[in-house]
Amino acid sequence: MDDTYLVTGGMGCIGAWALTNLRRSGKRAVNFDQSTDRHRINWLMSAEEQADISFVQGDLRDRDAVKGVFAEHEITHVIHLAALQVPFCRANPVLGAEVNVTGTVNVFEAAKAQGVNHIAFASSIGVYGPPSEFPPGLIANDAPQNPRTLYGAYKVCNEQTAQVYFHEDGMTSACLRPYTVYGVGRDQGMTSEPTKALAAAVKGQPYKIGFSGAMQFQLAADVARQFILAAEQPLDGAYGFNLGGKPATVSEFVGFAKDVLPEAEIDVAEQPLPFPEGFDDSALRASFGTVYETSLAEGIAETIAHMQRLGDGI
Ligand SMILES: NC(=O)c1ccc[n+]([C@@H]2O[C@H](COP(=O)([O-])OP(=O)(O)OC[C@H]3O[C@@H](n4cnc5c(N)ncnc54)[C@H](O)[C@@H]3O)[C@@H](O)[C@H]2O)c1
Repeated sequence: MDDTYLVTGGMGCIGAWALTNLRRSGKRAVNFDQSTDRHRINWLMSAEEQADISFVQGDLRDRDAVKGVFAEHEITHVIHLAALQVPFCRANPVLGAEVNVTGTVNVFEAAKAQGVNHIAFASSIGVYGPPSEFPPGLIANDAPQNPRTLYGAYKVCNEQTAQVYFHEDGMTSACLRPYTVYGVGRDQGMTSEPTKALAAAVKGQPYKIGFSGAMQFQLAADVARQFILAAEQPLDGAYGFNLGGKPATVSEFVGFAKDVLPEAEIDVAEQPLPFPEGFDDSALRASFGTVYETSLAEGIAETIAHMQRLGDGI
């Protein structure tokens, strides 16, 4: 059977990059998303490239639809990204649980029914608690999970769900925990503001980022590549991995942007995000031969150049 990759949430930021990277490396990809809005995909791929991808519109909450896509497309690899982010879960907690929790169970069930015994899926550093819960420094991969948002609680549930599927059904999984993803296509979610600031700067508009402090910035293209690797590489259990990287402050992020666009008018609010500055990635490095980590300066320069190519469309 030929390899076929299912990406859930491929209309989203990381998913659009995953589809793009799969397509560019000649892999067959199927997108499952309730949205038909291709604006992010259009920023990344030509119409000709998009024609090689199967786009299936469906709701993760619909278990028959999820099962159907596995069967119809003979899925062999899974990158499960579709979810509602923090502001959406806060606005509608029940819908958040239906999509993020039940939807993830639907993906595991459909994979099991199809005989796919490994899944890569997205968790988040939102599974951990606020900085006051931890000693200074990077937070260990196996630190206690004590989320303060429903979004984080749902992600903890996803991680524990994966554990149970391993113990009961032998299904292995790799769950990656991004922090602040940035890059073309990052236009929604709590930590999308640094990217929105880049887009505003490219258009010559001022922008104020609503938080400050240190965090780990991860380039969407790198994150997507890591998810593809996580879907391909066998593991002997259900593991969660902080994506990690070197922490940097929002001001440093802005500084790199100004190196490329000296006239950019980007302000930074004083209030830090309610998350620790960084999460240790040694487990990821020990388990994966390759960790994709474009430097922040390079990633910002690439993003600005890409946005400039897109012009007013961004
Ligand atoms: N972007 C980040 O900084 C970040 C950080 C930590 C974790 N994550 C996680 O990574 C994953 C991808 O993030 P992203 O930034 O690409 O998200 P995104 O919000 O850009 O995209 C999510 C996609 O999921 C789809 N979706 C939502 N509900 C659905 C449903 N019921 N059925 C089918 N599709 C549905 C949306 O239409 C959207 O295209 C998510 O699970 C997110 O929680 C992202």
